[in-house]
Amino acid sequence: MKRIGILTSGGDAPGMNAAIRAVARKALSANLEVCGINYGYKGLVEGNIFEIKEKEVSDLIQLGGTMLYTARYPEFAEEQTQLKAIEQLKNNGIDALVTIGGDGTYHGAVKLTEHGYNAIGVPGTIDNDIPFTDHTIGFNTAIQTSVEEIDRIRDTAKSHSRIFVVEVMGRNSGEIALRTAVASGSQVVVIPEKPFDVDQIAETIKDARLRGHDHQIIVTAEGAIHAQDLTEQLSNRGVENIRGVSLGHVVRGGSPTAYDRVIAARMGSYAVELLLNGQGGQAVGIENQIITHHPIIDLFNTKAVTDLSMYELANTLSY
Ligand code: ADP
Ligand code: F6P
Repeated sequence: MKRIGILTSGGDAPGMNAAIRAVARKALSANLEVCGINYGYKGLVEGNIFEIKEKEVSDLIQLGGTMLYTARYPEFAEEQTQLKAIEQLKNNGIDALVTIGGDGTYHGAVKLTEHGYNAIGVPGTIDNDIPFTDHTIGFNTAIQTSVEEIDRIRDTAKSHSRIFVVEVMGRNSGEIALRTAVASGSQVVVIPEKPFDVDQIAETIKDARLRGHDHQIIVTAEGAIHAQDLTEQLSNRGVENIRGVSLGHVVRGGSPTAYDRVIAARMGSYAVELLLNGQGGQAVGIENQIITHHPIIDLFNTKAVTDLSMYELANTLSY
């Protein structure tokens, strides 16, 4: 193996740059050549490829987003598009590919693997919805950002004795919402993994107000119900002085936390070690603080499991 490629794909995540840097530096230290591929699988198919030298990844570790850009490219689900990608990889002398992204990106890496191409998956998404890893790169930063935003909202909620429904990202996962709810001291958390009853939520809020909680935070995951919809439904059930806020893409921005930088460095470096040992077709993860790998093809016989112990905790501590 002489040359490896790196791409980022799907929703960007803080820490992706730290992972890119680790893959590049580890590979360069092993005298491999490194190619960056811009705009994920789209850029790969289009040949948007450039050489990465040591300096290209300097002053990068602290930056949010991805220096390799990303793209939503549903065409990659088509076999002929996947074969074009493999042709591009071979024409550019790229012997193996490190893909950094989320659930969909992993599907793409599985397809490349099924076509016999050497792909490694590094979990880069704020959603934390990838199997075989306790944490995805960006998840910790997304929680921290969400909690800091809710701390700001709490100031104005308190001033106006107001209820705020705050929506966080997570596509179909409640992982961000759960930890954000616990860390921000919310009254109620609503996630796609658990059924919820708006009448019950309205009663919970009213009862808490009667006990003196004149301002309250409700956290909802975008995959469960949007903040504005829940706000309207609660208002229609007699909850007064209530507002809804969606944090949206704010949750995906900002400089990665130290934790995300460290797991990005560890996982990116480990991906190259696997390739150097001839172990392609793997998904890298962190399990109980140990960096691990599993055959990427096994990934989709397994569903990422949301840690629902946080759900009980969030609801218990709200009294
Ligand atoms: P994420 O990786 O954050 O989940 P997406 O769902 O957009 O984001 O997936 C990223 C990219 O992976 C898609 O834009 C597409 O190019 C590719 N992809 C997604 N699903 C598949 C699939 N089933 N087969 C092949 N490629 C896929
Ligand atoms: O998958 C990461 C993610 O941030 C999800 O949490 C969110 O639902 C989605 O991407 C938003 O996608 P886009 O930025 O393409 O609107």
